[in-house]
Amino acid sequence: MKEIKRIAVFTSGGDAPGMNAAVRAIVRNAFNNDLHIYGVLRGYEGMIDGHFKRLETTDVSNIIHRGGTLLKTARSQRFMTVDGRKQAYENLVFNDIDALVAIGGNGTFTGAVKFSEEYPDIPVVGIPGTIDNDLFGTDFTIGFDTAVNTAVQAVDKIRDTADSHNRLFFVEVMGRNSGYIALHTAIAGGAGGVLIPEEDTNIDDLVKLLKRGAKRAKLFSIVIVAEGNHMGTVYDIARQVEEKLDVFDDIKVTVIGHLQRGGSPSAFDRVLASILGFGAVEALMEGKAGVMVGIKNNSIHFTPFKEAISKSKPLNKDLMRLAHILAQ
Ligand code: F6P
Repeated sequence: MKEIKRIAVFTSGGDAPGMNAAVRAIVRNAFNNDLHIYGVLRGYEGMIDGHFKRLETTDVSNIIHRGGTLLKTARSQRFMTVDGRKQAYENLVFNDIDALVAIGGNGTFTGAVKFSEEYPDIPVVGIPGTIDNDLFGTDFTIGFDTAVNTAVQAVDKIRDTADSHNRLFFVEVMGRNSGYIALHTAIAGGAGGVLIPEEDTNIDDLVKLLKRGAKRAKLFSIVIVAEGNHMGTVYDIARQVEEKLDVFDDIKVTVIGHLQRGGSPSAFDRVLASILGFGAVEALMEGKAGVMVGIKNNSIHFTPFKEAISKSKPLNKDLMRLAHILAQ
């Protein structure tokens, strides 16, 4: 088994609150085991450009509560090329790096799979860091809980003004092709409807649902729309509903957007990131490679990268049913 002495860590893809807490846990656990950690700036881009920085345990003081990623991030196109990965490998060898910890989502692990096939002498372990919670093999990804809390706070505020004006609001949340953020936001935000990619819905059903509510003197409503839903953009949906529904005084659209990606991580995300960061270093010391460190039923769980990115992570059917029943 290869002895691991120097580990490089990087964050890649969309940032997620809690990434810093994960880096902190990696550095602190490495320190505990006499290993050296190097931070790579801007993910795979920094690996290609040779931007490495030794991280001492004091470098990660006072970061557990900070959103974003101190290591910066990027969506690297160059790493998707054979030449880009070769350049990255040469820089890793030049810096005597024995192993990598990749913190990110689908795109990050897709790059890691390619790299591992070409350069198996540098083991890679991954940590799921994305607000989308769309990775198979972990109950939660770092940043999801914070993003949902941010979205729910926004919905609470919209509720005040929707109520005051008897208006219907369509609120778009992120999640790419996954409805996790939307579903949890809808339940926690007391929404009157939710549109997610995992379900086929149509305008007529939505209008029926909203009319039913209005009959019971529901004078305002909020519908949560996942950005990846199959009915179109949130603006298209609002326009189509407006043509068929006249029970509200007005219809408005709010796109929460990148607000969901920022802010101080929730306690849940800090704990999750700490567990996974710690676990990633342990995994490398045990000789693991090509796996994502996740959490399942409160225990650390390892999933091969290929499965994490190719298998779909279904939404909880009971939660979907709950959201619809409570929306009425
Ligand atoms: O993957 C995280 C995410 O925030 C998605 O929910 C969203 O679709 C995407 O990233 C937005 O990416 P960008 O910040 O590059 O526009």
